[in-house]
Amino acid sequence: MNEYENQTNLDKIEEFIDKTIIDFKDKYYKQSPVIKDKIDHITRVVDIAKNNWPDDQLVRIAAKIHDIGRFAQFELLGKFDDGKVLHHYLGEDFIARALYQGKIEDCEELDQLRAVMQFHGRTIFMPFKRGIPENARELVDIIGRIDGIENGCIGAIGYLIREAEEDSKSYRANNPDLDMKTISEDVFEFYKRGEKFDKMKYCKTYADYTLFAAILAITALKGKDRRISIRCNEKLSMFKNSKAI
Ligand SMILES: [Fe+2]
Repeated sequence: MNEYENQTNLDKIEEFIDKTIIDFKDKYYKQSPVIKDKIDHITRVVDIAKNNWPDDQLVRIAAKIHDIGRFAQFELLGKFDDGKVLHHYLGEDFIARALYQGKIEDCEELDQLRAVMQFHGRTIFMPFKRGIPENARELVDIIGRIDGIENGCIGAIGYLIREAEEDSKSYRANNPDLDMKTISEDVFEFYKRGEKFDKMKYCKTYADYTLFAAILAITALKGKDRRISIRCNEKLSMFKNSKAI
């Protein structure tokens, strides 16, 4: 295992995040299928991180912390609606309060973890991107890629239907005149090119959102992410269809 300069602080942060996830799980896991989906997603992202970066505690903590803002988002809105409040910022807010309350201590690695919460999967699209510390770029990239593999190839298959039924993303509420089974023109153009796009900007229907997840899956199966996907399939048996790749 790598030894970090601020090992004690890092251990304390990991302990705090573990406790946060367990507390939230105890509170909501059984009664809320959408929370169950989200916690299962985080658990799988952590498993992929541990399997591919076995000796790296910071990658493991980053995987655990990346969606921590979803918990506050659910408690505030009752759904995961980034159109109303971004979970990226809620994650930072949660950690800032933990610092004020003395539950964790500040250290350099915390800036890297903060960048992961704010930018994972969105380095191209997020505002204020000049704020990413140079030493956090690789970590942000790793978590964004693992997150994309999990969402596109594993998680989305289970939760897309439920999110559409429950209007978790508020697409139906925000676009009452649109048929949720219709694909927007821009989204279809991105799909034809196999190009990732900003879901917060372009997704207006659940059909759009399904294509967004499909592009994540396509990206996960080519280039440098292919190796990680193969390990998810072979070592972790995460793909429902073992011949998926
Ligand atoms: Fe995630």
